Amino acid sequence: MRAIRIARFGGPEVLGVVDAPQPEQGAGDVLIRTVATSINPVDDKTREGAIGKGTPPLPMTLGWDLAGIVVDGGSSDLRPGERVIAMSHQLSTGRGTWADLVVLPAHALAPAPQAVSLVEAATLPLPGLTALQTLDWLSLSAGERLLIAGAAGAVGGLALQIAHARGLQVDALVSRDEHTRFARTHGAELATTDRNALQDRSYDAVFDTFGAFVTEAVADGGRYASIATQAGPVPDLSSRDVRTTVNQVREDGIGLGRLTKLVDRGSLRLRVHSAYGLHEIRTAHERFAQGGLEGKITVTF
Ligand SMILES: NC(=O)c1ccc[n+]([C@@H]2O[C@H](COP(=O)([O-])OP(=O)(O)OC[C@H]3O[C@@H](n4cnc5c(N)ncnc54)[C@H](OP(=O)(O)O)[C@@H]3O)[C@@H](O)[C@H]2O)c1
Repeated sequence: MRAIRIARFGGPEVLGVVDAPQPEQGAGDVLIRTVATSINPVDDKTREGAIGKGTPPLPMTLGWDLAGIVVDGGSSDLRPGERVIAMSHQLSTGRGTWADLVVLPAHALAPAPQAVSLVEAATLPLPGLTALQTLDWLSLSAGERLLIAGAAGAVGGLALQIAHARGLQVDALVSRDEHTRFARTHGAELATTDRNALQDRSYDAVFDTFGAFVTEAVADGGRYASIATQAGPVPDLSSRDVRTTVNQVREDGIGLGRLTKLVDRGSLRLRVHSAYGLHEIRTAHERFAQGGLEGKITVTF
């Protein structure tokens, strides 16, 4: 089978499509044929060797996101031919999804949304679970105020829509003027590129996707969650009774099932920026590295 692998760290030129052995299906595992995946910042950092400690050994198959078809459901209820989505925590397990065939534990899978194609569905797992798990940690009630920093990005754009569907009042900090339109049309009341436009201590919670550390914006007694691991910890705000975290995404088939329902209900719109073939993987990474994306870069098998 084909797999996208790296044998050394570096730029997009280290990515290669190789012939790899089919993975072995253990107890509790499901064998899936990959239809599409997408590129996430962690794939870029792993390829570069920027993660450091904890990176799986070389050579490694990259990839976290997966949308595909069940080949063998093992002991699970899944039947051959079912459409599924999954997030593989590639950094901790070494099980990359950028391969024709992937084996993952059944508890990391969920039915794919019916309302979208598998290419669109491949944009959901990692960013969607990150958005969902971080919003769950922030634990806001309808009517409370949330600021999302990076609200037009992959995680931020899904968090914005989920928060809006939960009845939260959401404001958006984005990187470019052209992204304010996306934020407004997907539920943001205020969408700005100017952090000085944010009212001090006025948000019950902040969801920070890029290490903005707009800590003055959160109200005393509020919550501040970052997902920008590489930007370091959130400053200590305990003197203001603000709880802080740098949230780390976890494999979570139940969470994926919740996301699938939101997509099928029309509450969550998925965005594909472009779709590349397997052999265009280097070009796909080059485009990804340029940033400024509205929508995700997908790779089809
Ligand atoms: N901790 C975890 O478990 C976890 C999980 C998922 C992702 N992450 C990390 O979270 C980050 C976001 O992931 P993602 O997939 O959402 O990436 P993304 O799609 O690139 O989104 C990041 C967004 O932040 C914007 N941004 C960057 N700098 C900004 C600035 N100074 N002011 C305003 N906006 C700014 C970007 O705009 P431009 O594109 O215009 O620069 C982009 O829209 C990445 O660092 C990723 O590695 C962590």
